[in-house]
Amino acid sequence: MQRFETAKDAALALRPDVPVYCFRPEVLKADARQFMEAFPGETAYAVKTNGEPLVLETLSRAGVKTFDVASPGEFEAVRAVAPDAEMLYMHPIKAQSDIRLALERYGIRVLALDHEDEIAKILRIVRALDLDPGGITLFIRLQTKGHAAYELSKKFGAAPAHAVELLQRCHRIGFKVGLCFHVGSQIEDPETYERALASADWVRNRADVPLAGLDVGGGFPAEYGHDPRRRKREMPGLGEIMTRLRADIAEWGFSDMPLVAEPGRVVVARAFSLIVRVLLRKGRRLYINDGIWASLSDSWTGKITLPARFIPDPARTARTGNAETISAFRVCGATCDSVDILSRPFWLPETVDTGDWIEIGHIGAYSLSLRTRFNGFYPDTFVEVTTPFDAGERAEGFASLETMAD
Ligand SMILES: Cc1ncc(COP(=O)(O)O)c(C=O)c1O
Repeated sequence: MQRFETAKDAALALRPDVPVYCFRPEVLKADARQFMEAFPGETAYAVKTNGEPLVLETLSRAGVKTFDVASPGEFEAVRAVAPDAEMLYMHPIKAQSDIRLALERYGIRVLALDHEDEIAKILRIVRALDLDPGGITLFIRLQTKGHAAYELSKKFGAAPAHAVELLQRCHRIGFKVGLCFHVGSQIEDPETYERALASADWVRNRADVPLAGLDVGGGFPAEYGHDPRRRKREMPGLGEIMTRLRADIAEWGFSDMPLVAEPGRVVVARAFSLIVRVLLRKGRRLYINDGIWASLSDSWTGKITLPARFIPDPARTARTGNAETISAFRVCGATCDSVDILSRPFWLPETVDTGDWIEIGHIGAYSLSLRTRFNGFYPDTFVEVTTPFDAGERAEGFASLETMAD
């Protein structure tokens, strides 16, 4: 893989017409280690966030030994780069054949569920393979309430009283049992973990069965840009969220049991930026060579303002507008689909034009893993970049109000 100091160096050297992912392995290692040092339990990286072999390999080298997986494709991806890693199968609703594969071929012994029919599926395979249920831990996924870019409890999780029944039923069969939740991805309310822990405590007290562990899921927010026209939601950094989480875990009496977290976004977001090219500027619209069906769907559905850094093409000599004035540009994707327009603008100098490049920062999470081949576009070009995105020249997505035009 070609290596550059900055994405700007890469753009000017390669003059790419296709999107280019700028991978920063040192940033990935540092962010993974920061999480592992701060979390008082096992860190299970959520493979769905970015399951590229180079990401899994780098995480494994950084000391990640446990992975949260959701499908046979993810079991295989982890096995291929980290044969000794433990896998936790935390998808609550699984195909019967995938459960068999997990237990039989991949030796997975930790699974999640939120319904009694899932217990029946797992039990069928456990009996067919003549496994001891006592060697398997089933985590009951609890619904939670809170604000996040993605609310996951609309789709998954048992209500507290139901979770009590599920815990007791699994315990009676002879499985080890634990509790898990996922407070939603990119949380917008730091109290959300405490509410989930309070609910887990309620369930534990009612169920009155020995718990083998508590899994607090993901949700830890990554830093993105912000739209200066909107009120900035003040979110504490990871350090403060972890300090609070550790205090809440102690206060609700969960410190004495094995703890797990399944972070994705906060571990991998900063490890990639993406160089895109402006295919055409039409007034305040920029048509770029990526979009919601490629690397940018997370920002579209999650209404995330991405930090964008302008890389002007030096070959363009004539420009209009004031380079010091930062404006909002609507961003249209490369496909023929008319919904392929980002839900949040890019904030860029007024002089941006056809042929220029834009470096989109903090794009490592839910970008590569969500890209499609729609319309025949499939970004797949990688370079390595050594300077962290936030350490380079000012990114306009982080710009302050004073420099903004209306
Ligand atoms: C079960 C599970 N674990 C972990 C994650 C990772 O969450 P995040 O990227 O918010 O840390 C997700 C994300 O959807 C998930 O569904």
